[in-house]
Amino acid sequence: MRFCVFFLLFLLPLLASCAERKVYIVYFGGHSGQKALHEIEDYHHSYLLSVKASEEEARDSLLYSYKHSINGFAAVLSPQEATKLSEMDEVVSVFPSQRKKHTLHTTRSWEFVGLEKGLGREQLKKQKKTRNLLEKARYGDQIIVGMVDNGVWPESKSFSDEGMGPIPKSWKGICQTGVAFNSSDCNRKLIGARYYLKGYESDNGPLNTTTDYRSPRDKDGHGTHTASTVAGRRVHNVSALGYAPGTASGGAPLARLAIYKVCWPIPGQTKVKGNTCYEEDMLAAIDDAIADGVHVLSISIGTSTPFTYAKDGIAIGALHATKNNIVVACSAGNSGPGPSTLSNPAPWIITVGASSVDRAFVTPLVLGNGMKLMGESVTPYKLKKKMYPLVFAADVVVPGVPKNNTAANCNFGSLDPKKVKGKLVLCLRGGIALRIEKGIEVKRAGGVGFILGNTPENGFDLPADPHLLPATAVSSEDVTKIRNYIKSTKKPMATIIPGRTVLHAKPAPFMASFTSRGPNTIDPNILKPDITGPGLNILAAWSEGSSPTRSELDPRVVKYNIFSGTSMSCPHVAAAVALLKAIHPNWSSAAIRSALMTTAGLVNNIGKPITDSSGNPANPFQYGSGHFRPTKAADPGLVYDTTYTDYLLYLCNIGVKSLDSSFNCPKVSPSSNNLNYPSLQISKLKRKVTITRTVTNVGSARSIYFSSVKSPVGFSVRVEPSILYFNHVGQKKSFCITVEARNPKASKKNDAEEYAFGWYTWNDGIHNVRSPMAVSLA
Ligand SMILES: *[C@@H]1O[C@H](CO)[C@@H](O)[C@H](O)[C@H]1NC(C)=O
Ligand SMILES: *[C@@H]1O[C@H](CO)[C@@H](O)[C@H](O)[C@H]1NC(C)=O
Ligand SMILES: *[C@@H]1O[C@H](CO)[C@@H](O)[C@H](O)[C@H]1NC(C)=O
Ligand SMILES: *[C@@H]1O[C@H](CO)[C@@H](O)[C@H](O)[C@H]1NC(C)=O
Ligand SMILES: *[C@@H]1O[C@H](CO)[C@@H](O)[C@H](O)[C@H]1NC(C)=O
Repeated sequence: MRFCVFFLLFLLPLLASCAERKVYIVYFGGHSGQKALHEIEDYHHSYLLSVKASEEEARDSLLYSYKHSINGFAAVLSPQEATKLSEMDEVVSVFPSQRKKHTLHTTRSWEFVGLEKGLGREQLKKQKKTRNLLEKARYGDQIIVGMVDNGVWPESKSFSDEGMGPIPKSWKGICQTGVAFNSSDCNRKLIGARYYLKGYESDNGPLNTTTDYRSPRDKDGHGTHTASTVAGRRVHNVSALGYAPGTASGGAPLARLAIYKVCWPIPGQTKVKGNTCYEEDMLAAIDDAIADGVHVLSISIGTSTPFTYAKDGIAIGALHATKNNIVVACSAGNSGPGPSTLSNPAPWIITVGASSVDRAFVTPLVLGNGMKLMGESVTPYKLKKKMYPLVFAADVVVPGVPKNNTAANCNFGSLDPKKVKGKLVLCLRGGIALRIEKGIEVKRAGGVGFILGNTPENGFDLPADPHLLPATAVSSEDVTKIRNYIKSTKKPMATIIPGRTVLHAKPAPFMASFTSRGPNTIDPNILKPDITGPGLNILAAWSEGSSPTRSELDPRVVKYNIFSGTSMSCPHVAAAVALLKAIHPNWSSAAIRSALMTTAGLVNNIGKPITDSSGNPANPFQYGSGHFRPTKAADPGLVYDTTYTDYLLYLCNIGVKSLDSSFNCPKVSPSSNNLNYPSLQISKLKRKVTITRTVTNVGSARSIYFSSVKSPVGFSVRVEPSILYFNHVGQKKSFCITVEARNPKASKKNDAEEYAFGWYTWNDGIHNVRSPMAVSLA
């Protein structure tokens, strides 16, 4: 309805029947032949004109004409006009742009994955290998990474171009100027910047310029954080409010950055709630990025439930990027821990989950009975060295707040100052109030500090937030201990000991509770996510146009900040891609993804299988192939390569015949299981299936690989041939994997589809090329 109101205000003259008009994307597939840009625009215009009353109306309704790789346009249409267009020749599909569905998925991490120096013998060995990798990749120097996000803070030292060589000759992009952003804000590090908001404004009316800059400048922090994670320079002596002191560096510190700002504040909401990103704006950005000559795209944006590929702007944009051999990494989403919560599931995307690093911000809570609980926080505020009265939020609410389990959420206005003043308050996660806001509510009610308690689904991943008062975050087990203590005594007391940064925390990594999970809801025969990387409590550069908590009530300004999300893990993988691309310029995007996936790790730093945030073994629906290991990925031995045509054939098979108009689906296309993917998922296996895969030798010329298999429980798996002989680099060998249900008639306990997990590997004594598999029974 908001759409309608704004239209009435701003575009009234245009509209006859406001109620039904929406932005639609009219998609023609790819461009065939060499049309000049203005010819393409005329061509799109002619289609619009055929459904609109006048030349003027057609022109005014057009938001974008996608002219480079993507062929299509975005325009305001009525459903009737959309239907008419969809029936026209050459139009591949017409779909409404999703409104307010896409959001941002909100440096120690590099040492942790072995890209920076650490301590100890093991670390020294890692350090040497790492330096080799970075040097081989020349720190990503010739690689251009496009960030589709919400802008950048160009003054950050992380984006200094000091000592960098000239901009790569292949670069064709621009530095688009705007509010508080002029051409001097681009340099040899930030080589390009653009912004897109026609879709946003068509829905919301003009941007409120007190909430964001109408330019590539970041007024939030997210875009600056992700960009510096990919390619920030090495900056010494940084910290987040005193925590995590040390050197900050992106994974590919000499790679070039191109900024595409597509996400903007949600009107009428506080900035803490995040941004919204419109599909038509993202498509325009990706189309430009392709033409500009980026090599890698990092997109920390998604929806909580994915759309089918033909109606998914990121998937369509990413397919065009893949056609141009650009590698696309996307965040899996922060909708965990439930199953089937994953976004960005297209097989031409690297879908990245989030896990912890081995750094903790230990901020202990001491109870009056002497019990010490290990909390985490990066608040700079400290309590005096004494005990304070301790209360549970639900026991100190104002009259009228429902006494159910939301009462402990510390929602705004819920706490009674009379019962809170001078005390420590235990608040639980969840409800309307965001974590930072719960602390603000405690402060408002006169509390001296607060304890942010996990619910069971948050497990033991503790968000280290820069709260505005003394605070710590504790696990759900500790919540139980605190509540039992409160019940056990008349005068419960506690104190929070000031926090400190602890390295080599164990176990690490574990999967973040919020990381979105498989199985893939769009195609249950593609295993997603692909991989996991650091996404919990990550330090990187921040916007000085925002506060570290993004709250308007927080007056602080910081240059570096700690943030969590698959938004943070995606740029880690994008950086690894940039290094691999530098080392192997001729590898396809699929080969690079394969290298990362088949070399990923499965054990944590105590030598045990990676767990979820409650300590239970994690599975491929959380981490895909495992935790990324860039140094190993540089030399994977074999890769599972996939061409653009393979993806189109795959789409034919799943009934999406339309993403590239120049391609005609054959009568029979290979089943989606047979897409040459580095992992394997089989949904609802009846009895037996045989799947083909092809590996390409990228290791030593002469090599012999032996297969081994760990069958999923309840299935038998055979790999044939079981030995592969190679005698030159680039040689391809195919093999078959036969999966058979041991007891196909086994009755299922319930309706839920239950997957069993296993893997198969190829090993030549040097390389271990591992593929996870997930199988369910019909
Ligand atoms: C860009 O802005 C900065 C700071 O306001 C100013 O010093 C500089 O001269 C401007 N550069 C251009 C090219 O306008
Ligand atoms: C713009 O945003 C500011 C800050 O949120 C708000 O106070 C103001 O009312 C907004 N202006 C309009 C026109 O919505
Ligand atoms: C690091 O920064 C702090 C605070 O800004 C300063 O006091 C200190 O001297 C700096 N250390 C180095 C080695 O630059
Ligand atoms: C708690 O009570 C309020 C008001 O009655 C209701 O809106 C809310 O859904 C309840 N929450 C739960 C978790 O039961
Ligand atoms: C990489 O590709 C380029 C252009 O296609 C070609 O000239 C070059 O020989 C290739 N390099 C290798 C190592 O295959």
